[in-house]
Amino acid sequence: KLKALLVMGNWKMNGSLAANAKLLADLRTGLAEGVAEASAHFAVCVPAPYLAQVAEALKATEITWGAQDVSARDAGAYTGEVSAAMLKDFACTWVLVGHSERRSMHAEGDELVAEKAKAALIRGVTPVVCVGESLAERDAGQVHEVIAKQLAPVIALGAESLRQMVVAYEPVWAIGTGRTATPEQAQEVHAGIRQALSAAGAPDVKVLYGGSVKSSNAASLFAMPDIDGALVGGASLMADEFLRIGA
Ligand code: G3H
Repeated sequence: KLKALLVMGNWKMNGSLAANAKLLADLRTGLAEGVAEASAHFAVCVPAPYLAQVAEALKATEITWGAQDVSARDAGAYTGEVSAAMLKDFACTWVLVGHSERRSMHAEGDELVAEKAKAALIRGVTPVVCVGESLAERDAGQVHEVIAKQLAPVIALGAESLRQMVVAYEPVWAIGTGRTATPEQAQEVHAGIRQALSAAGAPDVKVLYGGSVKSSNAASLFAMPDIDGALVGGASLMADEFLRIGA
């Protein structure tokens, strides 16, 4: 493989101390047994209460970890929020911002997502900015427009910030549906994202694809020039299947 893939799991609101212990042990074993390509880098984004468990289980491995959301605020009277400094306390490398489930179910807008990305960067946590269109938007021919609108406030943070981020393209209609974008459909959008990032002075930002990625469809997606890895939901809950995405 020519490119160093980044394969990131998003556990979403799944897991328990017991289930995580098994999954993490299986990930360690699978990696040691060489299930995946040595060049692929794996990461997991887990529910915040399990960060301590995950940090302890993965600290001696090459797998990195992170959270699924972060507050845009630094500290204070924000009940229920988790700050970037707190994520840093648990050695998070990554945090997802603007996942479509947060955009749609928690009313997160493009500006707030950019503020969250900035808050993460300030504390040294790499934001993984998620973008993607709905089926209605795709059918209306608005894909590029929607992505450009979602990215605009993030791009406005400037080249220096952008270069420290990761972008994940997740067409909403492909999330958890078993319906993956074809490699060509994904590549078309990734190329547009690459163009926007390049124009903003950040051509080397990793752009991940997400939406029903599994071991059987990963290779054809990764063969595309602008797909640098994957953001994996369902398939990240099974160690062997997850690692095989990077095989
Ligand atoms: O963040 C991950 C995505 O939402 C994809 O989820 O792999 O279960 O379709 P999925």
